[in-house]
Amino acid sequence: MKYHVKDLDLAPAGRLRIEWAEREMPVLRQIRERFAMEKPLKGIRLSACLHVTTETANLARALQAGGADMVLVASNPLSTQDDVAAALIAYDEIPVYAIKGEDNITYYEHLHAALDHKPHMTMDDGADVVSTLHKDRREVLGNVIGGTEETTTGVIRLRAMAHDGALQYPIIAVNDAMTKHLFDNRYGTGQSTLDGIIRATNVLIAGKSVVVGGYGWCSRGIAMRAKGMGANVIVTEIDPLKALEAVMDGFRVMPMLEAAPIGDIFVTSTGDINVVDKQHFEVMKDGAIVCNSGHFNVELNLPALAEMATGEPRVIRPFVKQYFLPDGRVINILADGRLVNLGAAEGHPSAVMDMSFANQALSAEYMLAHADELEHTVYAVPEDIDQAIARLKLKAMGVEIDVLTEAQKKYLSSWTEGT
Ligand code: ADE
Repeated sequence: MKYHVKDLDLAPAGRLRIEWAEREMPVLRQIRERFAMEKPLKGIRLSACLHVTTETANLARALQAGGADMVLVASNPLSTQDDVAAALIAYDEIPVYAIKGEDNITYYEHLHAALDHKPHMTMDDGADVVSTLHKDRREVLGNVIGGTEETTTGVIRLRAMAHDGALQYPIIAVNDAMTKHLFDNRYGTGQSTLDGIIRATNVLIAGKSVVVGGYGWCSRGIAMRAKGMGANVIVTEIDPLKALEAVMDGFRVMPMLEAAPIGDIFVTSTGDINVVDKQHFEVMKDGAIVCNSGHFNVELNLPALAEMATGEPRVIRPFVKQYFLPDGRVINILADGRLVNLGAAEGHPSAVMDMSFANQALSAEYMLAHADELEHTVYAVPEDIDQAIARLKLKAMGVEIDVLTEAQKKYLSSWTEGT
């Protein structure tokens, strides 16, 4: 078996952490048990490009139990958990190509290894496999039946491809399932981003001014959790509706240029470039902490910061790089501007990834069963899958809910009844 990981000796530690995560992933566990009996993915070569974490390991094991011939590669150079990568090879015989801190060349070599697998199905987090396949490896296209996409950024890229008529196979947008973005993006990103900032810096959040770039589902979670820890939260937005929502949620809203001299900590999660730009670095406080929790590191204009800085930046502690400006100010960049929650911490907790990855597994099964009926465009996760996952999660949490009575059903379907 070919693979490329840091150190196979890390496998026993990784295996224990995968087992720990599994305890928080009851929905995915049930899917794995059914997949093991029914083998819905039998004979399918599946190339997954995901963050290589304990949660992803549990997804990979579920897909393999379903009969998929898997290969897993990193979806970000900094998010890999090296012990998990080793454990998947040593105990599950799943080839993994992922090393924490890999450079861009290695990152793309790993993407190509995923395509060398000649997949029938792709599973992406950020759409790098789909984009590399369509740009540089079109000979692989003939085998592909369909794919799935995990994240907001990837779905935006894929919709742009579909809009241009470039997309050559159907994709299910896992991100857009309610049981994904309402929980993973909000509670997952909220908790794990604060976790990343705290692990990297150990600074006190209470009393700090935290500037959150964007007010989508991820940023809402970050703002909510920062506020919960006692920060004064400022939100920046370009969308009037989201800005209004942030105001009514109790946050101060202002342009980034106004927030830049006030903030102690900056976090972006917008999916766009240069959210923190040269003119913002120019007016930041000495010691400002700047990080990103969006999919790509382009949200911070780091090339501009490097140009403004004098001398070489210095790593003062793991995942904290200091840039020295000519006027004596220091700007601290966390995790090289990459996803701080996965770079400096462990990503979203398993209990939310349980639902995200249940969507992945069930969407892969659905895609295979319905590929013939699907066009080369981006599809939502079928509502019955979303509902089923919510019900399974509630059941696993021991939460029961009411059921509509016949009278209530009748009332809801009638337009004649008033007060
Ligand atoms: N994305 C965010 N958190 C994650 C995690 N724990 N595992 C895989 N992908 C993630």
